[in-house]
Amino acid sequence: MEKRSEWSSRFVFILAAIGSAVGLGNAWRFPGLAAKHGGGTFLLVYLAAMLVMGVPLLMMEISIARKLRKGAIESMRGMGRHCEPIGWAATANAFVIVCYYAVVFAWVILMFAFSWKFAGMTGNNDAASGLFFDLTQTTGLIEGAKIPIAVLLCLVAAWGAIFYCIRNGASSVSKVVKFTVFAPVVLLLIMAVKGCTMSGAADGLRMLFVPDLSALADPSLWVDAIGQVFYSLSIMMAIMFAYGSYLRDDADVAADALIIAFSDMAISVLSAIVMFTTMGGTGMLDKITASGIATAFIVYPQAIVNLTRFGWLNAVFGAIFYLMLITLAIDSAFSIVEGVSAAVSDKFHIQPKKVTIGICCIAGVISLLFVTRAGLAWLDIVDNWANSVNLILVGVLECVAVGWSRRVDLRCILHEVNRNAKRFKAPYWWFASSVKVVSPLLLAGLFIWNMVVLFSQKNGTYDENYPIWAQIAAGWVVSVLVFSSGYIAKIIVRVKKKKGFVEDEVVWVNEETKE
Ligand code: PHE
Repeated sequence: MEKRSEWSSRFVFILAAIGSAVGLGNAWRFPGLAAKHGGGTFLLVYLAAMLVMGVPLLMMEISIARKLRKGAIESMRGMGRHCEPIGWAATANAFVIVCYYAVVFAWVILMFAFSWKFAGMTGNNDAASGLFFDLTQTTGLIEGAKIPIAVLLCLVAAWGAIFYCIRNGASSVSKVVKFTVFAPVVLLLIMAVKGCTMSGAADGLRMLFVPDLSALADPSLWVDAIGQVFYSLSIMMAIMFAYGSYLRDDADVAADALIIAFSDMAISVLSAIVMFTTMGGTGMLDKITASGIATAFIVYPQAIVNLTRFGWLNAVFGAIFYLMLITLAIDSAFSIVEGVSAAVSDKFHIQPKKVTIGICCIAGVISLLFVTRAGLAWLDIVDNWANSVNLILVGVLECVAVGWSRRVDLRCILHEVNRNAKRFKAPYWWFASSVKVVSPLLLAGLFIWNMVVLFSQKNGTYDENYPIWAQIAAGWVVSVLVFSSGYIAKIIVRVKKKKGFVEDEVVWVNEETKE
């Protein structure tokens, strides 16, 4: 076996993890949810969900992988052989997500490439919001198989960029994250300055920060906040296992996880400031929607063409906005591929680079589905199931597997977290109550809630505009495949064993701790 690649420094690990966490979800999902749930109220509930569930689970994933030096599949095997399929489910779900995340990334590149068109659209809201549909020719329905050539080129560029960044695992990632983490922050700051200097910005800031306590009564607030914490921190997606497994032994996991989580939240709030002040400044506050894609590609372009009287200046701000999204999305996109790649290459002892090439090719072909005219509709379905069914179930299973494992003492995992801690040590009561009880129960509640909404309020369909067969195929069938992937893999392992393959026995050794 070749030597496992390692982060070049602690700083680089933190940057890579922040890069993965900070993505399109921060830029558009977070502001949209804040608008839906009473501004400041959402911020507070999000903060609470992050402290109660997000941070402990982030610490758990990073420290398990650091000790075992394995990706998600083998790390879960370390919790007990029967836990391996959970690692597979997380990995398979991450694979599903990357197939369409790459397409959203490609759309952002497309909008960036055509942002000069905003110059001729000053004040013309219809033209601005139609640009995305003109370019992608997407119908929003399960109709049409044509792929526009410009979109195809952007998709190829997106996959090329993803592969380039992770071609040598942690060592090539180490080089790019120094740029891809800071660039969006600088661009966001430029946009925040522009937003805050517009008249009407104060209305936006008031809407964002003043809590509307009546929003607390809506249970979907809690559901959305917890879901966003998971999505945003990139946990339960095989990523943090992979990134943790490249960590050096002297890393201070407790402090690093806190830095990662709070930086992620800070960038979400900064994006929300940009969104709310810009929308306030252009008199469009009521148009922010909880659907990120609509906000970024349909609503925000309208704000762009109303920013100033000068078309070219608006086009420059449009270009800055989409460039910001490109730099935001790329490190999230490649982190998902890296998570899948590390997990599979550790399991089957295949050279990481070969696995990465294989994943990019297979996912690249599948992603073609999402750039057809019916692509947006397919993406909407797959995204819904991946996040509100698969991700949450993986979360429940992973917490139960780790928290209640007979082989692994939770105190030893905490010892891994705190081993090099200098200032902040995670307390046992907080860590254990989260991993064992609070997180699995809340996630299970969330899952049940989603199912009740799906079946009692929506007659079992996620969206009535899509045919039921499409929702079954891209939703339920994919979920079944995700959760059976571990069992399919077992068959593959059995066949490979006959050809001489030796499966690793990953064993977690409980050390004596005084924690
Ligand atoms: N955390 C990323 C975001 O907020 C999303 C993401 C999803 C990243 C899946 C990796 C994997 O956009």
